[in-house]
Amino acid sequence: MLNKKEIVMSGIRPTGFLHLGNYFGAVKNYVRLQDEFECFFMVADLHSLTTHPDTKELKQNVERVLAENIACGLDPDKVALYCQSHIFETSELYLYLTMMAYKGELEKTTTFKDKARSQPDNINAGLLTYPVLQAADILLHRAMLVPVGKDQEQHLEMARTFVNRFNHRYGDIFPEPSAFNYGEDLVKVPSLDGAGKMSKSENQLATLYLSDSDELIRKKVMKAKTDSGPTEPGMAKPDYIENIFLLMKLVSEPAQVNKFLEDYDQCRIRYGDMKKQLAEDMVRFISPIREKADSIRNDKAYLKAVMEKGAEKARKSARLTMALVREAIGLNYY
Ligand code: TYM
Repeated sequence: MLNKKEIVMSGIRPTGFLHLGNYFGAVKNYVRLQDEFECFFMVADLHSLTTHPDTKELKQNVERVLAENIACGLDPDKVALYCQSHIFETSELYLYLTMMAYKGELEKTTTFKDKARSQPDNINAGLLTYPVLQAADILLHRAMLVPVGKDQEQHLEMARTFVNRFNHRYGDIFPEPSAFNYGEDLVKVPSLDGAGKMSKSENQLATLYLSDSDELIRKKVMKAKTDSGPTEPGMAKPDYIENIFLLMKLVSEPAQVNKFLEDYDQCRIRYGDMKKQLAEDMVRFISPIREKADSIRNDKAYLKAVMEKGAEKARKSARLTMALVREAIGLNYY
């Protein structure tokens, strides 16, 4: 059972438009958690500098992430919705934690290895210590529940390792955080091309963004990979077909999903009809979010006020933690 006093924290990088994976892996849970817990949700702009050093579009992207979160149902009066770079204490805690993180373990992190491969000319120290900064975001509020998708599992494991090292060395200051999803396994929303997951900046034609127009949604869904169909009743589904069913389960009525499952099992499935149904259900799901986000995004004064208010709440919590941390480390000479 969840304890009412537990603190929730999570973040999203402003490296592109939010997509269905961000929604079902993270934001949907934020919205549910906000009514029960003290929540801190932020735009991870410092993290984005590890891969996107060009900041020309950063402000616009930060505003977009904020607007899309609010359009999905996040209420800035209930949660602290803020920008990572506005909380200077994050950088201080990050520094202390870097001394508890070993080069070998950081080099073995999956995300580091992936990024080092995709940007060989910019393997910066920030990229290597990315999970340390993420741990600082979480520990700054002494959060225990971290709503994230499956791809963040390893980062959470590392955050727990840093907590244990810190507590062992300096005394029990931090609780152990865990990746959170309501009652089920962590979510991984697959891409439409049957390869990998939906992503903000890769495989854009196989990713459904919360900002996609109705036409674009239809076009992307209709292009999803299929084949000529099963040849024997009860045949196992190839990954790319499993993925279409998985996407359908997210946005379609259970009766629709069951109908197509039965059709598959009886070898009478028509993938064209299934994709048409999925496309219409996606449009119905995404279009209200897109329209709401567009109007919020244009209200710059409102977004600035949201950021200021969120930062104020986050700073208050960060200051309390950092006073304990400095004291515990022994940085208290006067
Ligand atoms: P980011 O910006 O890549 O993704 C934001 C959230 O969306 C989830 N997600 C997915 N879930 C399911 N299926 C997908 N295809 C999919 N793609 C993305 C991610 O798991 C994440 O929950 N390192 C983090 C940002 C971060 C953070 C933090 C998270 C910085 N500090 C502190 C939690 C706590 C990241 O890059 O998320």
